[in-house]
Amino acid sequence: MTTMVTHVFGGPDTPKKLRCLQEYLRAFAIALRDQEFACIYIDAFAGSGTRTEVRPGLPLFGSEMAEPEEVTTQGSARIAIEVDPPMHSIVLIERDNSRFAQLGELISEYPNRKIIVRNGDANDLVQRLCKRTNWRGAETVGRGIRGVVFLDPYGMEVSWETVKAIAATEALDCWYFFPLSGLYRNAPHDPAKLDPSKQASLDRVLGATDWRERWYGHESARQDLFETKGQAVRRADVNAIESYVKERLRTVFKGAVLEPVRLHHKGGAPLASLFFAVSNTSPAAVALATKMASHILKSGRSSQSRSR
Ligand SMILES: C[S@@+](CC[C@H](N)C(=O)[O-])C[C@H]1O[C@@H](n2cnc3c(N)ncnc32)[C@H](O)[C@@H]1O
Repeated sequence: MTTMVTHVFGGPDTPKKLRCLQEYLRAFAIALRDQEFACIYIDAFAGSGTRTEVRPGLPLFGSEMAEPEEVTTQGSARIAIEVDPPMHSIVLIERDNSRFAQLGELISEYPNRKIIVRNGDANDLVQRLCKRTNWRGAETVGRGIRGVVFLDPYGMEVSWETVKAIAATEALDCWYFFPLSGLYRNAPHDPAKLDPSKQASLDRVLGATDWRERWYGHESARQDLFETKGQAVRRADVNAIESYVKERLRTVFKGAVLEPVRLHHKGGAPLASLFFAVSNTSPAAVALATKMASHILKSGRSSQSRSR
C-alpha cells in the first residue's frame, strides 16, 4: 500500500479544464463506438488520478475561522478510465514516483481493462509511442487506431518535438493546456531580462525563434528633435501571444486548431489557454472532431464570460 500523498494543483478554472476533457472523451467514445477503429487515450502528465483542492475555512464567530478544508475530486486519469463507453486502451505517463505509484493503485481497481502506466519523461515516452505505433493498421496487423492525447503540464514542460510527433500521427486529437503564464515569466517586458535560459525554454516550447522579432520591438519613436528611438520592450500582449501559439500549432496540425478557452489564476490573471487540435486530415474526421470540440469550447467560453 502506497502512502497517500495528496496532489494539490490547479486553480478555480481547473474543473472547467477537466470538464472539457471529460465531455470530449465521452463524445469521442460514443462517436467511434460502432466504427472499426481501436480507441486510445494518452494522458502524458497523468498526475495521481485525483485532485485535491484546499478550500479556506469559513468564518465562524467573531474573528475565528474554521480549519481549511481538503476536497478531493477526480483527476484526468480517473475521468478517462470511467468514460462510458470505455476507451479500448489507456496510457498514463507520470514522472513523479509517488504519483506513479498511486496510478498503479488506481489501475488495480480495473483489472479487466487495458491500461498501461509508465514512469518517465512525457516528452520521450509520447514521442516514442507516436513514432512506433502503426496508427493506420494494416490488413495483416489489425484495425487502425484513433485517439485523444491530453497534455496537462504544470508549466513549460512540453517540447515542440512532442507536439510535432503527435501531429504527425494523423490519428490523435490533442487537448493542450498551454502555459500562458509560463510564457510571460520567460518573456519579460524588458528584453534585457531575457536571459539565455529563458530564450532556450521559449524556443523549446514554441519550436521557433521568430517570437523574438514578433513579440519585441521599440516603443514608438519619440518625435523629438533627436528622433530618439523608444526603449525596446515586449509589445505582444496576452492576446497576441495566444494567437502566435495558435499559428504555431496550425503549422503542424493539418486537420484543425480551434479557438482556445482561456483559463485564469485565482486573482484573474491569465494562466493558460486550453487548445484543441486535430492531427487527422480526413475531412470526415476533422468535421466530427471539430463539431464535438467546438461545442465544448464554446460552453467553456460562455461560462467564463458569465463568471467574469
Ligand atoms: C498539472 S499536473 C497533471 C494533473 C492531471 N492531468 C490531473 O488532472 O490529475 C502535472 C503532472 O505532470 C507531472 N510531470 C511534470 N513533468 C513531467 C514530465 N516531464 N514527464 C511526465 N510527467 C511530468 C507532474 O509530476 C504532475 O503530476
